[in-house]
Amino acid sequence: MTAYEQLRSHLPTAPKSWLITGVAGFIGCNLLEALLKLEQKVVGLDNFATGHHHNLKQIQDAVTPEQWSRFKFIEGDIRKLDDCRAACAGVDYVLHQAALGSVPRSLEDPLTTHGANIDGFLNMLVAARDAQVKRFVYAASSSTYGDHPGLPKVEAVIGKPLSPYAVTKLVNEQYADVFARVYGFKSIGLRYFNIFGARQDPAGAYAAVVPKWTAAMIHNEPVYINGDGETSRDFCYIANTVQANLLAATALHPDAANQVYNVAVGDRTTLNDLFEAIRSTLEPRFPHLKDCKPSYRDFRAGDVRHSLADITKAKTLLGYQPSHRIKQGLVEAMDWYVSDLAL
Ligand SMILES: NC(=O)c1ccc[n+]([C@@H]2O[C@H](COP(=O)([O-])OP(=O)(O)OC[C@H]3O[C@@H](n4cnc5c(N)ncnc54)[C@H](O)[C@@H]3O)[C@@H](O)[C@H]2O)c1
Repeated sequence: MTAYEQLRSHLPTAPKSWLITGVAGFIGCNLLEALLKLEQKVVGLDNFATGHHHNLKQIQDAVTPEQWSRFKFIEGDIRKLDDCRAACAGVDYVLHQAALGSVPRSLEDPLTTHGANIDGFLNMLVAARDAQVKRFVYAASSSTYGDHPGLPKVEAVIGKPLSPYAVTKLVNEQYADVFARVYGFKSIGLRYFNIFGARQDPAGAYAAVVPKWTAAMIHNEPVYINGDGETSRDFCYIANTVQANLLAATALHPDAANQVYNVAVGDRTTLNDLFEAIRSTLEPRFPHLKDCKPSYRDFRAGDVRHSLADITKAKTLLGYQPSHRIKQGLVEAMDWYVSDLAL
């Protein structure tokens, strides 16, 4: 039995109270679904900056009425300390996902990104500390590796940030570290690599690559690759991310807390490979994709060229064992996108 299987069989027998910030977003709503299905009590906080009511509605439809009754939603803003305090009251574990993602968004509007990602983060730390939550797990980012060229990325070796977004995620780690030293407050940062899966938003200028290309292919629109397509990423399916969060919140290893961990698979996929993987997964249902080719355009500012994680630390201290490699994840994700987008 893996550590995650053990946890999943234990949690329903001893339900806990969880706060998910950013619960109406992609990762937040998938965490909500997993926790409600494990009979947990969940508080969710979101201001719908980039999240959607329909994500919450889909979770409501996916769980039983009794499970849904254990969910309390607070519409609020992490930039307001009172909203953070209201959300943290009586909570055992915090899974802090709320932030403004996207490197290009942060280049265009660094102030707004800073407000949510640094001021909001600090408010959440203060509120969670004062509410004496057992552990604060937060969404860190692989962007923290910045300009360091080494591959695979190991947690202890980072470079200089390449965007305002990357600065905010680095500052999160530094604040969490200081809160551990000066207040003894326990946290874990999860450096997500490129996460993908159901309910990741395909719309808008700041959409992530998997949903953006999937939507374009389904709708027979052009697919753009920034650069030559040999840029590479460690794409990580959402089920692995959910696993990492639940293990991080509950890990008993004495050295597990007050650390950051890579959350990825340890596989390197180029954008050209990703294009072909999505195209071939969709082709049986969309024959027009048989001859589909990408259009290449300029590299994008602020992007790192290659990204690949060493996941040894999460395996060792958290018991993390990714359940999905990219191809399996794409098959599941494509099922959802086809039913959601191809209507
Ligand atoms: N998706 C990825 O590949 C990836 C990679 C690295 C890090 N992350 C981090 O993971 C977290 C979740 O990302 P996601 O992909 O689910 O993004 P998302 O945009 O789908 O979700 C973020 C959620 O936070 C909410 N939010 C934003 N500002 C808020 C505020 N001021 N107050 C309350 N709620 C607010 C949004 O409305 C949204 O529902 C973010 O912290 C992001 O930086 C994601």
